[in-house]
Amino acid sequence: MKALVKEKAEPGLRLMEVPEPVIGPGDVLIKVLRTGICGTDLHIRAWDGWAQQAISAPLVVGHEFVGEVVETGRDVADVTVGDLVSGEGHLVCGKCRNCLAGRRHLCRATVGLGVGRDGAFAEYVALPASNVWVHRVPVDLDIAAIFDPFGNAVHTALSFPLVGEDVLITGAGPIGLMAAAVARHAGARNVVITDVSDERLALARKVGVSLALNVAESTIADGQRELGLREGFDVGLEMSGNPRAMRDMVANMTHGGKIAMLGLPSEEFAVDWARIVTSMITIKGIYGREMFETWYAMSVLLEGGLDLAPVVTGRYSHRDFQSAFDDAASGRGGKVILDWTS
Ligand SMILES: NC(=O)c1ccc[n+]([C@@H]2O[C@H](COP(=O)([O-])OP(=O)(O)OC[C@H]3O[C@@H](n4cnc5c(N)ncnc54)[C@H](O)[C@@H]3O)[C@@H](O)[C@H]2O)c1
Ligand SMILES: [Zn+2]
Ligand SMILES: [Zn+2]
Repeated sequence: MKALVKEKAEPGLRLMEVPEPVIGPGDVLIKVLRTGICGTDLHIRAWDGWAQQAISAPLVVGHEFVGEVVETGRDVADVTVGDLVSGEGHLVCGKCRNCLAGRRHLCRATVGLGVGRDGAFAEYVALPASNVWVHRVPVDLDIAAIFDPFGNAVHTALSFPLVGEDVLITGAGPIGLMAAAVARHAGARNVVITDVSDERLALARKVGVSLALNVAESTIADGQRELGLREGFDVGLEMSGNPRAMRDMVANMTHGGKIAMLGLPSEEFAVDWARIVTSMITIKGIYGREMFETWYAMSVLLEGGLDLAPVVTGRYSHRDFQSAFDDAASGRGGKVILDWTS
């Protein structure tokens, strides 16, 4: 089969022939239809410091996908051939304290699809049936392909009650955009999103934010004034990984404010801890999705009319993966999709 492979410990990816995956008794084999390009895949292509310590080549990359089940192992009961599925890309150990307690998203030995084992940028991918989400409600294939990052957005946005609250989102990348759509849909009063890219802020306006603020030109405090907020934001969703964004967020929260932090900073940085203490701010780290509570929430949010269409801005054949990766790496658009059937 064809697959996008990190062939050697050096920059780049290659579309090449590799053997089809063989499934075990608890696995399913999925014919991949569409995939989403994630920041992780860009790191792996660029072969930066993170990729060099996290990846051993050769490796089939990619973890965001939708596909159709074509084979099931003999122990698989609830997934059948023909099912349309997306995959939970965190494979858990099943043995640690959290796994045994049913808190699989807190597993301390998680292996990432397309990071710690062969991934989904291929004609076929194998996964344990317990990592598969069957789409039982009709869903657009481009959106189904990005259930993994959509899940990051939902997990973060629904970490704290949002109804009637003023919400600040730092970072209007694909995940920040989806979180803004979710916060709006879930009943926030104001949703303010920040970025330094005008193109991405324009996309944010399409998902219905109250204010899309370019922090290279104005401050979050200016934004508060514009909306008539007097006491700061109730809920913050950090989705940039940028230290300045986190500092700005802390400075603009109300007393007792809640921050859910998804953005992954590349190194340690300082924040105003005295402010966090005296403002009694709660900070919660978010990694991945809750299995499968977040997936349930994603499906019903879409069923209830949540519109993510503005978030997908690039569509390419898998053969044009270089252009697709360049598009995703430009940092200007939304989500970029690869089609594995054309
Ligand atoms: N915790 C997890 O499980 C998890 C999963 C996926 C991604 N992530 C992380 O979440 C973040 C969002 O993912 P993404 O794919 O949308 O990333 P992205 O890099 O496409 O988006 C980040 C955005 O933040 C903007 N930004 C930079 N400086 C800023 C500032 N000072 N203020 C406001 N915005 C600023 C950038 O211009 C960019 O548009 C990334 O840091 C990513 O590494 C975490
Ligand atoms: Zn991803
Ligand atoms: Zn575990």
